[in-house]
Amino acid sequence: MAEAQTYNYRVVRQFAVMTIVWGIVGMLVGVFIAAQLAWPALNFDVPWLTFSRLRPLHTNAVIFAFGGSALFASSYYVVQRTCQVRLISDQLAAFTFWGWQAVIVLAAITLPLGITTTKEYAELEWPIDLLIAVVWVVYAVVFLGTIVKRRVKHIYVANWFFAAFIVTVAVLHVVNSAALPVSLWKSYSVYAGVQDAMVQWWYGHNAVGFFLTAGFLGMMYYFVPKQANRPIYSYRLSVVHFWALIFTYIWAGPHHLHYTALPDWAQSLGMVMSIILLAPSWGGMINGIMTLSGAWEKLRTDPVLRFLIVSVSFYGMSTFEGPMMSIKTVNALSHYTDWTIGHVHSGALGWVALISFGTMYYLIPRLFGRELYSLRLVELHFWIATIGIVLYITAMWVSGIMQGLMWRAVNLDGTLTYSFVESVQAMHPFYIIRFLGGLLFLVGAVVMAYNMWKTVAGAKTVDAVIPAPAH
Ligand code: HEM
Ligand code: HEM
Repeated sequence: MAEAQTYNYRVVRQFAVMTIVWGIVGMLVGVFIAAQLAWPALNFDVPWLTFSRLRPLHTNAVIFAFGGSALFASSYYVVQRTCQVRLISDQLAAFTFWGWQAVIVLAAITLPLGITTTKEYAELEWPIDLLIAVVWVVYAVVFLGTIVKRRVKHIYVANWFFAAFIVTVAVLHVVNSAALPVSLWKSYSVYAGVQDAMVQWWYGHNAVGFFLTAGFLGMMYYFVPKQANRPIYSYRLSVVHFWALIFTYIWAGPHHLHYTALPDWAQSLGMVMSIILLAPSWGGMINGIMTLSGAWEKLRTDPVLRFLIVSVSFYGMSTFEGPMMSIKTVNALSHYTDWTIGHVHSGALGWVALISFGTMYYLIPRLFGRELYSLRLVELHFWIATIGIVLYITAMWVSGIMQGLMWRAVNLDGTLTYSFVESVQAMHPFYIIRFLGGLLFLVGAVVMAYNMWKTVAGAKTVDAVIPAPAH
């Protein structure tokens, strides 16, 4: 008898494990730089330990290493399950795993050494950029090739989001990283002045829109219905949501450049598109949350589902806040302040990290053919993480709005009411609260790592059999 065909779970397992490892590393760096902002002596006068070098290490580690690994793992799992075929090539899939780990390690070496292009979220120098481009193209080939080879006619909507994420990130990366190398570790952007800023924030905002949003929406569309054991609330809404979201996101970048040398009309266009973006974003949130309609009681008993649903609620919250912050008069207050940092982390911790945790709690026991070790530890993780996020973002909101107001306060004679250092002093208690919130969030992730370790320890890995085609 021919051997039964199985899915390629090996690469999914590898990425799933690295999601947890890089999550802890990236958040540890986050907690450390949060501590440095409260107690600057922690820079230790060592250049490669300074805030300026560790901050990009944090952002690269959490977005690309932690978030990226979660996206690779979930997209490879979902595309196989929903297309009912094995990935088109085990070798190419393995290449994406090792290639991506190599990128991360190179980032972890070069950033503390101060090797950087200085473009936010695109700091890595040109040799690493080339490697990223190759790995990403191979990822596209494996993912899209698997869709082409599918045994079911329909392409499930989660795959649309993953595909949009993969294709758009390739375009963003190649265009924004175009540079003239002058040595092995130094290059200059091919764009100059305000064009460079515009291309950078077209990239930066769409890194949020496609890396941190579309990909994770792909996760939502598969894992929320699965864990809730309900069909998605509205398939039609998911299609409308998809096209509206990808059409609108791509125009919103200029909201990062309000009141700069960018032409005023471009700033206003970015603002209008950002406000419109509220609608498709909330369409997606409603679709995710309403999938639970008729099964709300599951939230009381299933902490994994709670991770997924609360993450979608945070998604709704940060996509309400974002359009508000894109209004020029609001941005005049929020820009350069901790309000932005609060917004970032309500999206990053509340949405990206929580949905990744929920997805890993779903995936890891299945990938290793084991029961989850402890549901109570999942419950514990959920509460520690939620309290951590609330401390983090409320501290940043208060500190950010206070900063903005202090900077603009003027006396009757037109002089500034506060010196800059007074605003820094006023922020100090909030930096300590943010540090504590971040620490809690990190402790939650360590609890998860322990729970997953106990789940898989001694387990035999299993690869599910692909079902025979229906006739
Ligand atoms: C334990 C959890 C975390 C802590 C304590 C933490 C802390 C920090 C700190 C202190 C900064 C610098 C803020 C500043 O410059 O004033 C920062 C920036 C940032 N973090 Fe985190 N972080 C955590 C988790 C995450 C996660 C999971 C993500 C993404 C998935 C993330 C994404 C970012 C981004 C994008 C920035 C740059 C924000 C900007 O430039 O406006 N962080 N983080
Ligand atoms: C409708 C959706 C959203 C809109 C319109 C939006 C809008 C904005 C605005 C106006 C800023 C401040 C720009 C500035 O003053 O410099 C910002 C910053 C940011 N947002 Fe959002 N946001 C949205 C959703 C999200 C989500 C879901 C996430 C994370 C998962 C996110 C991550 C970020 C990051 C990382 C930054 C900081 C960029 C930087 O300066 O380094 N945003 N966003």
